[in-house]
Amino acid sequence: MTTAYLNGSYLPLEDACVPVMDRGFLFGDGVYEVIPVYRGRLFRLAQHLQRLQNSLDGVRIGNPLTVDAWRALLEELVNRNSGSNQAVYLQVTRGVAPKRDHAFPVGVRPTIFAMSNPLPEARDISGEQGIHAITLPDIRWQHCNIKAITLLPNIMLRQQAVEADTAEAILIKDGYATEGAASNIFIVRNGVLITPPKGPRLLPGITRDLIIELAAYNAVPYREAGISEAELHSAGEIWLTSSTREISPVVRLDDTVVGDGWPGPVWKSMTALFQAYKDAIHRGEAA
Ligand code: PDD
Repeated sequence: MTTAYLNGSYLPLEDACVPVMDRGFLFGDGVYEVIPVYRGRLFRLAQHLQRLQNSLDGVRIGNPLTVDAWRALLEELVNRNSGSNQAVYLQVTRGVAPKRDHAFPVGVRPTIFAMSNPLPEARDISGEQGIHAITLPDIRWQHCNIKAITLLPNIMLRQQAVEADTAEAILIKDGYATEGAASNIFIVRNGVLITPPKGPRLLPGITRDLIIELAAYNAVPYREAGISEAELHSAGEIWLTSSTREISPVVRLDDTVVGDGWPGPVWKSMTALFQAYKDAIHRGEAA
């Protein structure tokens, strides 16, 4: 049985219900986070809670809980669910308003919801063979740095990717790759790791930031720079990163093989650094 959290109570997921007047239901008026849990521990929780705060600020919803209260709530949720590796989903909506009106209601309390799902091993998601992806126009809004629950464009894009027998859509805006429909993008070009700089065109991924930290610490050459469509299509390696897929190597983009068609050497070494970092956290040797 999966245990969820809703507005102060832990309960079976199937019993968790919100009123239809919830602004999340009517307008998609809310924000969310997805936090991986490895061996029972929430991974990079401080960074996820900071991004949650930034998203809440971005849509002007007051944070209903302190950092300590969030930590206690989420640790309790993890403990109540089985599995040492989990993906915790949380969302905060503006709350339940008496009538449907686009403008913010006055005096409503935000709705807090959280649940946990099993987190498959990264190698079971992308396999040893890597994944296929397609490029699609980035049809999203101008505040993609906010992790909003309003995900209709992302859903349409991911569905197109799935119908093309691929795992993800890489989004193109004004001739540049921004990110995946639910992931950030890295390429390797002439031995240098490149990812687009943070800004309103992409979500500041927690996995992305960790990869940059690991690259800096381990002297892997990297740059935060725009990736043109031409650079994307001629890249030696392409990776897609997220809290649920870790680092997925793309071995086929549209109709073209990436590199030699297998996960590349830089991906192999970064994946090893990533796993070593997870192990160090588990041993209490890294923050
Ligand atoms: N998505 N970009 C977008 C648009 C995303 O939706 C995500 C994650 C990322 C990667 O961010 P992070 O490394 O912090 O997971 C980038 C989550 C997993 C989801 O919506 O399920």
